Amino acid sequence: MWKLFSNRNQDNEDISLDGNNIPRHIAIIMDGNGRWAKQRNLPRSMGHKAGVENIREIVKECSNLGVKYLTLYAFSTENWKRPAEEVNALMKLLVEYLKKEVEELHKNKVVVKSIGQIESLPSICRDELKNAYEKTKNNTGLILNLALNYGGRDEILRGIKLLYEDLNMEKIILEDVNSEVFSKYLYTKDMCDPDLIIRPSGEQRISNFLLWQCAYSEFWYSDIKWPDFKKEHLHKAIYDFQNRDRRFGGIK
Ligand code: IPE
Ligand code: IPE
Ligand code: MG
Repeated sequence: MWKLFSNRNQDNEDISLDGNNIPRHIAIIMDGNGRWAKQRNLPRSMGHKAGVENIREIVKECSNLGVKYLTLYAFSTENWKRPAEEVNALMKLLVEYLKKEVEELHKNKVVVKSIGQIESLPSICRDELKNAYEKTKNNTGLILNLALNYGGRDEILRGIKLLYEDLNMEKIILEDVNSEVFSKYLYTKDMCDPDLIIRPSGEQRISNFLLWQCAYSEFWYSDIKWPDFKKEHLHKAIYDFQNRDRRFGGIK
């Protein structure tokens, strides 16, 4: 086995990664900011601040490892239920992140994209996402996909409506609709399905994330809260992924 990334964890376990089997698409539910703050007697917004700051390290490492797509779940269609003050603080932090990091991301050949109902986000957020995309769209490295105002059910319904329009306009006929064709009506149309979905924080649920795309994803959970999820945890998640047997319904 070609060990590209030689590594040992705190328990001195060999968690070297096979460079030939790095997940092409990793998706992360960035959860646990609130509890991280609570454990430290800090306001929830400080947890979000630490969470947003943590993005830098994980993006950098995914880029170094040769991951092609990194999708980060930053705000769900259900997160609007939270107090306006918290929602506003989060939006502000995301805008600041983009402003501060876009130059560095660009230097590292990262493309900044987004999925979700971006049109319903505050204009400052939309503008910053657009700026980041325009600046980085021709890069050839990691595709950083920010899931903002994203919901899996919302995405599927939107896809059905778009497909219905195309059927009506006879751009496509019903007999030709299959899962591959339907995938092209989703926000993720240009990317492969996630190989690995990581959820820190201790919750073991999907929370409306990539419902269509996760059909054969490997799931990896940890009690670590997102602001504490570092490069070594990412390595462990990938190491575990590399030791799973993916059969896709077939047999070996
Ligand atoms: C994740 O952290 C950030 C968002 C959902 C926007 P949470 O804010 O959900 O943190 P917990 O789950 O309350 O700890
Ligand atoms: C999922 O976390 C959404 C994001 C991390 C953006 P939540 O904290 O909103 O999910 P639930 O409420 O625990 O399912
Ligand atoms: Mg949460």
